[in-house]
Amino acid sequence: MGEYIYIVQALLEPSKCKIGKTNDLSRRLKEYNNMTGKSKENIYKYLFTCEVKNMTQLENAIKMNFSVLREEKSKEIYFFNAALFKNYVKFIKSHKMFVKEIFIKTDEKKQMVKIVKKTTPSLEERGLSPKDVMQKAKRVDNDEFYTRYEDVEKELSMYNKRIWKNKTVFCNCDDPVDEDNERNTSAFALYFMHHFAEIGLKKLVCIHYSGVVDLFNQGAKGYIFTKDGFRELKAYPDGYTGSFDHPLSLKILNEDADIVCTNPPFSRAIDYWNTTIKSGKKFLIISNISNAINTAYIPYFKNNQVWAGFNEVDWFLTPKKELTRAAGYWFTNIPIKNRPKYKQLKIIPLKAIPEKYKKYDDLEILLVDNCFIPNDYKKPFAVSARPILNGLLEKGYKIVQEKRYEPCINGKLGFARVLVQKI
Ligand SMILES: C[S@@+](CC[C@H](N)C(=O)[O-])C[C@H]1O[C@@H](n2cnc3c(N)ncnc32)[C@H](O)[C@@H]1O
Repeated sequence: MGEYIYIVQALLEPSKCKIGKTNDLSRRLKEYNNMTGKSKENIYKYLFTCEVKNMTQLENAIKMNFSVLREEKSKEIYFFNAALFKNYVKFIKSHKMFVKEIFIKTDEKKQMVKIVKKTTPSLEERGLSPKDVMQKAKRVDNDEFYTRYEDVEKELSMYNKRIWKNKTVFCNCDDPVDEDNERNTSAFALYFMHHFAEIGLKKLVCIHYSGVVDLFNQGAKGYIFTKDGFRELKAYPDGYTGSFDHPLSLKILNEDADIVCTNPPFSRAIDYWNTTIKSGKKFLIISNISNAINTAYIPYFKNNQVWAGFNEVDWFLTPKKELTRAAGYWFTNIPIKNRPKYKQLKIIPLKAIPEKYKKYDDLEILLVDNCFIPNDYKKPFAVSARPILNGLLEKGYKIVQEKRYEPCINGKLGFARVLVQKI
């Protein structure tokens, strides 16, 4: 009995690629194509097949060699991308267990589907101190800080799967399948592609921002990627930049989307926030920690219309796939339960708060730091973004002023905060 390694791909869902081993190539393909619930048109075909001396050994070697790749777990290669595919094949062919490539003829369907790509972020760390973050962010252009897959997964897995059922998710700052530069492929797009069926999504729409274009939008190359059920489509409307505030993007946001999910460009955080809030849609986005006490955000926190998600996001990937630190946090209006960060709030009597974490400003307003919160102080007092993100407003405190508070101590401006009060 022969031993084989293969890579298959679904015809209408080119993002669905799987790598595996089998003793019987034709039976395995039949198995793929007999899977229950699968459309008849969406057949699988082999992208690569080869005979090997020991398929288990080679499969384990693939797992080890690509151990940083998340698709190793499920043997799925989301998205298909030419570079990754080439790497797998190169690795397999150069392995001592490789015998020969096998070419299997499969019935070609007439339907043409564009192949989409996947990127795999590197996990190499670059020891940057947190202090460097903001300066570095400016140097490297933090609009191009990409979210790591594991951070998307960590946050999204905290919510009940039911929130996605039959919903259209709009990732409006996310390159789903960047053809020029695979590094730009978004982990948000990856996550939703990967979990599409499992969470019962109806549709996923991702838009690619082509950057600023000339006066007449000549050469605008923004595109809209839609996964509707198992069909994947990529459209390049004329003059479309792919900006989240382009009329076409706003139309998708307002008329099609149920939930918006992305990490928008930091430099457009406020515009993005205002656009999203105005749409009235559910959202789950990453923003800078300090935005929790930004005047554009405060009114919505104050009225309990928005709150922090579960996690902070400390690490991002630069376009060179290097890790870099930045102070991100999830912001949402999707209900969350049992916030683990409550534990970080130290709600105790004022006199028990260590002196170094409490002071009064020139207006005699109490400022408390390090997540210390007085539970016996009746007047408004000022806190930083942290306690707000840790759920202070769910613990019997309210925001009392709709703009951020900028304390002065001995005439010197201190860090911005927000004024809160025990209810
Ligand atoms: C901070 S990065 C995050 C990318 C991706 N959402 C992620 O989480 O990895 C912001 C992205 O938004 C893109 N972008 C910049 N301006 C934009 C705009 N006006 N509309 C949509 N996307 C934009 C950038 O090119 C960049 O890819």
